[in-house]
Amino acid sequence: MPVMKVYFDNAATTAVSPEVLDAMLPFLKENYGNPSSIHSFGRIAKTAIENARKTVAGLLNASTGEIFFTSCGTESNNMVLRQSIHDLQIKHVITSRIEHHCVWHTLLELKAKGLVQLHYVNLEPNGHIDYNHLQELLHSIQGPKMVSLMFVNNEIGNLLDMERVSALCGENNAYFHSDTVQGIGTYPIDVQELSIDFLSGSAHKFHGPKGIGFLYIKNGIKLSPLLTGGAQERNMRSGTENVAGIVGLTTAFKNSIENLDANRKHILGLKNKMVKDLRTAFPGIIFNGDIEGNSHYKIINASFPLTSRSELLLFNLDIEGICVSGGSACSSGTNIGSHVLEALDVDQSLPAIRFSFSKYNTREEVDVVIKALKKLF
Ligand SMILES: Cc1ncc(COP(=O)(O)O)c(C=O)c1O
Repeated sequence: MPVMKVYFDNAATTAVSPEVLDAMLPFLKENYGNPSSIHSFGRIAKTAIENARKTVAGLLNASTGEIFFTSCGTESNNMVLRQSIHDLQIKHVITSRIEHHCVWHTLLELKAKGLVQLHYVNLEPNGHIDYNHLQELLHSIQGPKMVSLMFVNNEIGNLLDMERVSALCGENNAYFHSDTVQGIGTYPIDVQELSIDFLSGSAHKFHGPKGIGFLYIKNGIKLSPLLTGGAQERNMRSGTENVAGIVGLTTAFKNSIENLDANRKHILGLKNKMVKDLRTAFPGIIFNGDIEGNSHYKIINASFPLTSRSELLLFNLDIEGICVSGGSACSSGTNIGSHVLEALDVDQSLPAIRFSFSKYNTREEVDVVIKALKKLF
């Protein structure tokens, strides 16, 4: 009998929903024009992009001139960090040690080149930033500065208090960039209320296709493009547009926001059940991050007790048809640890697993995973 597959790795990527695929297909089949072409095929594609931009802007309470389509969240974050060093003369970036690699490694490279100084905000043991320390850093740093802090941590799920950080940035004349890749589509974001300068999104995290993202840049801020060549995206992002991807991103974003409350309720129900069942099955389990506090309803990160069978845990779960991500060296079968768990002083000799849910998961799947885990300990 084929093994039943359980996909609890939705922070890595999600399934493209059927409605999204339906919306995309016409732009891969009959409406395949290049948006830069002036003939009817081109005009249809161009109109689809501009309608998509309007929709994305509306969902964020932004204006259309503030939205730029990119290839992914990584590109959006790179563009902000790399270009603002020159264009906004940013010399200091306040960030944390638990940012996604696309922010962290980019900042480390800029620092290594002597282009920017990095200031790490202290972390609480539960993975939240120390807001008082952020305030002290903002007070003490003179000159153009940027705060780059992620909204939802992709490994442990912790949420940033976006209102508080945006207020602190406003009071201290700092630009605020947030990698919102894990939060877009699962929490409402209103850029007018937040007063944020830059945020990034990626369709494949909310049931859209891979290879398409967007960047919000607040009106009045001028950045030069990261990719040059053509004049696409109002000269801000050269390269023939991924029209089907843009339509898919927009459809997925709209669906996510329209069904946000129902999806949140369903997914939170799964998370709560999983936490409860894990506690019952594994009394020694340790949850990493602020699991029952200010944390995303789709993510659980837990360290399991060490046993002979818990070695190569992910590999053994995969054999059982269960797809999850590992954080620590032990669980992933590699010797590369997690920089997030390291920053939180989590014992990485224990196998850690990230379970992440979507609207398509069920309570029965939670039972299947708990049963499989019990077999391995
Ligand atoms: C927090 C965060 N930022 C950025 C990215 C990168 O997004 P993309 O895969 O679209 O480049 C990811 C993807 O895992 C992420 O989780």
